Amino acid sequence: MAEQVHLSMLLVLVTLLLSIHHTEQEDSSQTQTLLRIKRLLNFPTALSSWNSRTDFCSPESNSSETVVCYEDAITQLHIIGESKAPLLPKNFSIDSFITTLIRLPHLKVLTLVSLGMWGPLPGKIIGRLSSLEIVNMSSNFLYGAIPQELSSLSNLQTLILDDNMFAGQLPDWLDSLPALTVLSLRNNLFNGSLPYSLGNLENLRILSLSHNHFYGGVPDLRRLTNLQVLELDGNAFGPQFPRLGTKLVSLVLRNNRFRSGVPAEVTSYYQLQRLDISSNSFVGPFHPALLSLPSITYLNISGNKLSGMLFENLTCSSELKVVDFSSNLLTGSLPRCLQSNSNDRTVLYGRNCFQDTNQNQHLLPFCHTEALAVGILPERKKHKDGSKVGLCLSIVGGTLGGVALVALIFFIVRRGRARRKMKNPPTRLISENAASGYTSKILSDARYISQTMKLATVGLPSYRTFSLEEIEEATNNFNTASFMGESSNGQMYRGRLRDGFLVAIRCLKMRKRYSIHNFMHHIELISKFRHRHLVSALGHCFECYLEDSTVSRIFLVFEYVPNGTLKTWISADGHSRKSLNWTQRIEAAIGIAKGIQFLHSGIVPAVYSNNLKTTDVLLDRNLVAKICSYNLPLLANIGKVGHGISSSGSKIPSVKESTKHEDKSDIYDFGVILQEIILGRAAKSRNEVDGLKILFQASIVGDEEGRRSIVDAGVRLSCLDESLKTMMEICARCLAKDPAERPSIEDVLWNLQFAAQVQDAWRGESQTQSSDGSPGSPFQPPRLTFH
Ligand SMILES: *[C@@H]1O[C@H](CO)[C@@H](O)[C@H](O)[C@H]1NC(C)=O
Ligand SMILES: *[C@@H]1O[C@H](CO)[C@@H](O)[C@H](O)[C@H]1NC(C)=O
Ligand SMILES: *[C@@H]1O[C@H](CO)[C@@H](O)[C@H](O)[C@H]1NC(C)=O
Ligand SMILES: *[C@@H]1O[C@H](CO)[C@@H](O)[C@H](O)[C@H]1NC(C)=O
Ligand SMILES: *[C@@H]1O[C@H](CO)[C@@H](O)[C@H](O)[C@H]1NC(C)=O
Ligand SMILES: *[C@@H]1O[C@H](CO)[C@@H](O)[C@H](O)[C@H]1NC(C)=O
Repeated sequence: MAEQVHLSMLLVLVTLLLSIHHTEQEDSSQTQTLLRIKRLLNFPTALSSWNSRTDFCSPESNSSETVVCYEDAITQLHIIGESKAPLLPKNFSIDSFITTLIRLPHLKVLTLVSLGMWGPLPGKIIGRLSSLEIVNMSSNFLYGAIPQELSSLSNLQTLILDDNMFAGQLPDWLDSLPALTVLSLRNNLFNGSLPYSLGNLENLRILSLSHNHFYGGVPDLRRLTNLQVLELDGNAFGPQFPRLGTKLVSLVLRNNRFRSGVPAEVTSYYQLQRLDISSNSFVGPFHPALLSLPSITYLNISGNKLSGMLFENLTCSSELKVVDFSSNLLTGSLPRCLQSNSNDRTVLYGRNCFQDTNQNQHLLPFCHTEALAVGILPERKKHKDGSKVGLCLSIVGGTLGGVALVALIFFIVRRGRARRKMKNPPTRLISENAASGYTSKILSDARYISQTMKLATVGLPSYRTFSLEEIEEATNNFNTASFMGESSNGQMYRGRLRDGFLVAIRCLKMRKRYSIHNFMHHIELISKFRHRHLVSALGHCFECYLEDSTVSRIFLVFEYVPNGTLKTWISADGHSRKSLNWTQRIEAAIGIAKGIQFLHSGIVPAVYSNNLKTTDVLLDRNLVAKICSYNLPLLANIGKVGHGISSSGSKIPSVKESTKHEDKSDIYDFGVILQEIILGRAAKSRNEVDGLKILFQASIVGDEEGRRSIVDAGVRLSCLDESLKTMMEICARCLAKDPAERPSIEDVLWNLQFAAQVQDAWRGESQTQSSDGSPGSPFQPPRLTFH
């Protein structure tokens, strides 16, 4: 028994000795490491108390140096030098310094501030500090790029490199640091635009990039639902207001190049305390609801071009301490809640157009001129120089001011020299990865749109609001060279967006005064006109009158389709070099049919009776057909705006058909287009259309030679009989007198696709033949027939 006790005591003793020995060893190695750090940092005064006898793991510390241990291993090291510490001498080596830190393998928190450290962060070495969670190396002289190897610090939560000289672009691998919650890079020399991957850092709470040389759009940050602080001041970001989550507490965009409107969503940032958008070129209305956000304490919109009228009866949050409206274009009166002279609230509102105030306001003439400056009206009425401009601008549904909707359209034919210029088109940039959509309502409506139809818009930038500056810049200030044409209700301009994307901009002048609100419903509808086979809507811009914020002009931005109308691509002479071959004609017909299918069933409310003609279809560079003239709802019933438009209001009964077959007038028009595609020429009257239909019906049952004899000479030899027959059949059916007898658009599509397939199969066959050495040109009359 006694022996047993003895034995176990011995064991305990041995164990103790061993562990003491171990700790001593660790202690001494840690001590050496820290003393080496002191030496490498050239003995900063902050570390003057460190020596070989110091017990680093004792809980003592002062504000300039702190060492924290956990179970005798150093987990935190904070060293803060004197502010404005000079550069360390030449023999300082950041590589040796970081290598030394590797000897503290449990280090989680590292603060090395104002120590005069210089050099580029050594990637290979820093990647080995894998336990690091929080790093603050502000106020040194570190330079170079952020090394890629940093991405292996998978525990990193906080990275603060403020006040250094780091440069280059923000790396796009930041989202490989999934735990990152704080990223602060203020006052460095970073440049370039922000990587989209920033939008994946879902844990990010603080993002501060102030005072660098960043530029361009801010990537979509709406997925960063934890983001509370976003500081982008002192860069060249813009022009669009960033897309953000709603939990922001502090948003600082001061001193950038933002030039858009301030979206109304900002008034839903219910936790917002600080909003500073000063010193930009924001335009459009100021949202008075910002004043009454529950937590708002600091609101600075000074130095912009925000307009709108304020009323005395507006309410303000009681938390508001600073309001700076100065240097904008606000009118009306200062809200009463801001007038009280309390000491703990600063209210600045000089250099606006307010009435009866103590702080200096602009003189009336300035206010009026500025109002005009916001609403410059281009005077160019006529296009003078020699290049020809064609304009597909059809007004469907009656005259302006009539009860019907005004349908607008675009389209554009530039010929000759102008066309040659288009030959090196800019690459399309898909610059926004944002989900398309303008308001939540649109997103909810999206469920009506089938998946395939949504996919069809892929490749277009998402629908968005444009700022007036963007429109001006795109059209080179409505330069004559951008002018494409004019109708009774406005002009049409061609433009190029910053990213090189070509657009057609429709400018509509308002004759009555409506607020933006009156148009939101229409804008939501318009934003849905996006499909591969439509000239699609890309966005809009409202221009408002200064005095009362009513709309003076609306700009609708559409994609620009450069290759001319379908009509110019179908010609009877067969010699025109740019005449479509048979396969391309079928493809174009399929495109139009798909466009019609989208108008009928891809959007709610459906759009019928589009009165389509071959001049209402444009071809893009890849000869993809796009319908450019459709019933675009804009001003429902000018006399009664506010009712919005009902689904029946969006149709124009152009042909006297019962609404029961409302989709069938487009089918008839499609039949006419098909006829022109097959014949290579347009019928001159409805009678002639009917006559040709009968000819088609007769030749379908007749012999092949007869059929071929009536086809456009340009494709006569290259079309396969079976394909031709199918096309003629479906064409004749579309032209049935009784709407009920006309096929559905799905039926039409099926037949067209069949015609394409047989043609394609034959072409494949004939190509195989020619590779055999036989003279099988695709323009040879077919020898194969399909029955
Ligand atoms: C750097 O040089 C200084 C003298 O100029 C010397 O005191 C210091 O120990 C050197 N530091 C290193 C890390 O060699
Ligand atoms: C911290 O300790 C160092 C060394 O003992 C000393 O020089 C420094 O003044 C102390 N700082 C503060 C704020 O107490
Ligand atoms: C980095 O550390 C310094 C010194 O402790 C501190 O003043 C600064 O606020 C820290 N930076 C951030 C962004 O927290
Ligand atoms: C960023 O700055 C570096 C120099 O620091 C320069 O070489 C580079 O071209 C700049 N990049 C961009 C995209 O401006
Ligand atoms: C508002 O911002 C401007 C410019 O950014 C600045 O000069 C001004 O001091 C700020 N106003 C207040 C009250 O902080
Ligand atoms: C505030 O006053 C304006 C005009 O003075 C008026 O149109 C508006 O209805 C008022 N709003 C409220 C909430 O009383």
